Amino acid sequence: MGSAETIKPAERTRDITYAVRDIVVLAQQVAAGGKRMLYLNIGDPNQFDFRTPEHIIEAAHQAMERNENGYSPSSGIPAALEAIEAQAERKGIRNILDIFITSGVSEAIDVCFTALVDAGQSILVPTPVYPLYSAVLNKLGARPNPYFLDENNGWQPDLDDIRGKIDRGTRGIVLINPNNPTGSVCTEETLREIISLARQHDLVIFADEIYDQLILEEKKHHSVAALDVDAPVITFNGLSKAYLVPGWRVGWGVASGDNAIMGAYLEAINKLLRARLCANHPEQYAIAPALQGDQGHLEEMKARLRRRRDLTVTMLNAIAGISCVRPEGAFYAFPRLEIEGTDWDFVRALIKETGVVVVPGGGFGQRPGSQHFRVVFLPPEETLEQAYDQIGRFMQSYSAA
Ligand SMILES: Cc1ncc(COP(=O)(O)O)c(C=O)c1O
Repeated sequence: MGSAETIKPAERTRDITYAVRDIVVLAQQVAAGGKRMLYLNIGDPNQFDFRTPEHIIEAAHQAMERNENGYSPSSGIPAALEAIEAQAERKGIRNILDIFITSGVSEAIDVCFTALVDAGQSILVPTPVYPLYSAVLNKLGARPNPYFLDENNGWQPDLDDIRGKIDRGTRGIVLINPNNPTGSVCTEETLREIISLARQHDLVIFADEIYDQLILEEKKHHSVAALDVDAPVITFNGLSKAYLVPGWRVGWGVASGDNAIMGAYLEAINKLLRARLCANHPEQYAIAPALQGDQGHLEEMKARLRRRRDLTVTMLNAIAGISCVRPEGAFYAFPRLEIEGTDWDFVRALIKETGVVVVPGGGFGQRPGSQHFRVVFLPPEETLEQAYDQIGRFMQSYSAA
């Protein structure tokens, strides 16, 4: 028997963090002490008063009963692929080259990055960003190349910053639209500028549009792929958010553009898809009913989210030392803090003293010197009101301390 040595984890895991869940460890300790917690940190509608539409559950249930419980084709079942294609075409995406179903958008990101970047290369990622993007790049030994979203311009991508950060190792650019964690929705002009930069520098555009059905303003959502038939784009979407089944892990990628440019890359993606066999099979039978069936729940969901967004913006902006840009989509806000010290310290103290759980801005990245936190406004109005009251009171003592 050898001497018991600590097993050394791989270097590539060193920079991987996921603040959204990391902060839960502290929240659990505080909750164990008996404090009443108010959770504003979880982007999972089913944890609150949102329920999966019955016909979506029924479709997956029926598939299981029919014994569709084996492996599926690696890209997914034909009925679901057709429904995804029709949905993409409704959004104006033409020149569709390939569609693949994955275990959530999360797996699509992993597969698409793995097939594209070599160690040392980079992909432009928004800052702040949904942290999985940086985590996957770190895992691959590649580099997240952060470009700023501009808080003074409604959190639109800062085009000058993007221009200045493209170098020879840059292979792609991520656009999260509507955005997590800011709730911003890209303007058509911004998207056109990004397409032009991407085409000039041979970048693949990764368009994460998982919140595209949750637009809370009278504003059209533009799929970036719809604005240029030849631009190399992979558009991500899935059932997690708008169709209220995040735990089923159903997402997909739609590749579009010029086949002469994208063909070899798409073959590399398909090799990886085959190697991992397939995405969850019976749940794929819910994709066509979800995308093509009754959409009634979406109006109700957006109506609730609008009320909760308005409450969030009004109450947070009334607190001295906090300012909050109005989110136009999704269910997140990213308010700015004027404080001494870091947002990590602020959030840790907030959780311990009040039981209100939010995520520090540092977990998503932000302009150096600025401090933020992310709020999820999925909880019912009573919960949000109590939480914002608590934050207001806490802020008074925190600023005075
Ligand atoms: C921007 C964004 N992309 C992807 C995901 C993950 O989606 P999925 O559940 O399809 O893996 C999330 C989840 O919060 C997200 O906010």
